[in-house]
Order: sequence, then structure tokens, then C-alpha cells
Amino acid sequence: MKTIIIYMSSHHQNTEKIVQAMAEDTNMETCKISELRNINLSDYDCIGFASGIYYHNFHKSIIELVKETRFTNNQKVFTVYTCGINYINYARSIEKIIKQKECEYIGCFSCRGYDTFSFFEKIGGIAKNHPNNKDKENARKFIEQHKIGE
Ligand SMILES: Cc1cc2nc3c(=O)[nH]c(=O)nc-3n(C[C@H](O)[C@H](O)[C@H](O)COP(=O)(O)O)c2cc1C
Repeated sequence: MKTIIIYMSSHHQNTEKIVQAMAEDTNMETCKISELRNINLSDYDCIGFASGIYYHNFHKSIIELVKETRFTNNQKVFTVYTCGINYINYARSIEKIIKQKECEYIGCFSCRGYDTFSFFEKIGGIAKNHPNNKDKENARKFIEQHKIGE
């Protein structure tokens, strides 16, 4: 299954660390959304969209990309996010967009990521050591369970 993960990770590269852990020892490709230019998403059997959570949602650029992408029925799509406080499903609105499209939505992986946004900076940040090794292991399990990148 030819797979790519497109990601946006601007705060502390937390999401990038998870994306790299997912891609380790697989044939999966990864690409920052800012470097997407020469990639045709219709070439892939499976596409992951990954982002930090900024104001309760995936980064705008990832949401816009999902909106403008024409998937096909035999393409699989999954989502990945890292966030400061993992208490709600921040993928809900992007999942809604994906599920209205012609593709198979596999699911979402999420974990916490070091967060120094706004007043959290004053207290030295939250989720300080995340993503940690356990988070990365869980991310790899998600990939294995869904047979992504094989
Ligand atoms: C502008 C901004 C807004 C954020 N908003 C939220 C939020 O609404 N909920 C949350 O749990 N974390 C929030 N965070 C924390 C990030 O989601 C978290 O640190 C994430 O791991 C960042 O991923 P990145 O390092 O890949 O950019 C915010 C961070 C920033 C910089």
C-alpha cells in the first residue's frame, strides 16, 4: 500500500516526531505541507493527514488540503494529531469533511505534545515530555494494526 503522511508541525515539532516514528522501518513517505508541490496525491493508496492542534482544530492548511483533494473510493485516509490537553476528539471536524468524500476513512491516532502556548509558557509548559517513547510505540502500533505502509 503506497502511503504518504502530509503534516503540519510548527509549535515544537511534536507531530513531526510522531510522523517520523510511524514511518520508521516502513516504505511510507512523509511530507511537510509546505513542501508538497511536486506530489500528486492520486498516486497513493493511503494518505495520512497530521497536525498539531491549534485553537481546537487541525491547522488550516491541512483542512484546506483535505477539502480540495479529490479522493477515490479505493483510497484509504487516516488522521494524526498531537495536542496539549487530550480531552476531546479534535479530529471531529476534519473527520466530517473526509467522511463526505469518496474514500475509506481508517481512523485517527492522537497523543499529547509539549505545549507552551499562551499562559502555559509561564508555568514551563504542559505535557512536557510528550511525545515520549510510549506515544511513539502506540503510533507505530496504530500503523501496524491498520496495515498501513506495508
Ligand atoms: C496557537 C496554538 C494553539 C493551540 N491550541 C490548542 C488547543 O486548542 N488544544 C490543545 O489541546 N492544544 C493546543 N495547542 C497545543 C498544541 O496542540 C500541542 O503543543 C501540539 O503538540 C503542537 O504540535 P506541533 O509541535 O506539531 O506543532 C496549541 C498550540 C498553539 C501554538
